[in-house]
Amino acid sequence: MLKIDILTLFPKMFDGFISESIIKRAIDNKKVEINIINFRDYTDDPHNKVDDSPYGGGAGMVLTPQPIFDAVDSIKTKDSFIILLTPDGEQYKQRMAYDLSNKKHIIFICGHYEGFDERIRTLANMEISIGDYVLTGGELPSMVISDSIIRLLDGVINTESHINDSFSNNLLDYPIYTKPRDFRGMKVPEVLLNGNHKEIEKYRHEEQLKRTKNRRPDLLNEEV
Ligand code: ADE
Repeated sequence: MLKIDILTLFPKMFDGFISESIIKRAIDNKKVEINIINFRDYTDDPHNKVDDSPYGGGAGMVLTPQPIFDAVDSIKTKDSFIILLTPDGEQYKQRMAYDLSNKKHIIFICGHYEGFDERIRTLANMEISIGDYVLTGGELPSMVISDSIIRLLDGVINTESHINDSFSNNLLDYPIYTKPRDFRGMKVPEVLLNGNHKEIEKYRHEEQLKRTKNRRPDLLNEEV
């Protein structure tokens, strides 16, 4: 079973994530264990401080290394893979979700406030950014990444549903339809109604190519 430990100063941000829908079911069915750990519990500071002002001056507060190092020391094993969430990390991709879904133990370190002491980077096996924008902390990115990994674990969702996912072969998804056949004059394509599976497969592949060329031509040049 995959174990995910998330080090954060804001554990309540995760309440909804672990108590709803597919993630809750995955936890209940023992496909994943998720522990939300408040690294303030590990501070040596008599006033429970976890941050301080930056050497050399500048705005805001910086996370100190001690609580995070001690928290990591206490939960790390030989199977642990440690991820630091930061806008200057490697940009997250579906390919990385597949890689991470094979790990045994993932530890996420969520920064918050203005930043973290540079020495905290030495703890990480990998630094990940979920996109070119700046969030208030690593909590949402750790949920985004965990969600994308957990849905790939065996028995969490029907495997066929992720074999055909957008990005799984560097193509976007094909259009899908359900009832009714005619909704406000917008009709379901004939080919989907005739039960000819070869033709349906061909149509879907063509639509994937068309949509990817139109919307994300950059994907067609990427390695699979
Ligand atoms: N922390 C703040 N912004 C972030 C981002 N875009 N990705 C990962 N961690 C972050």
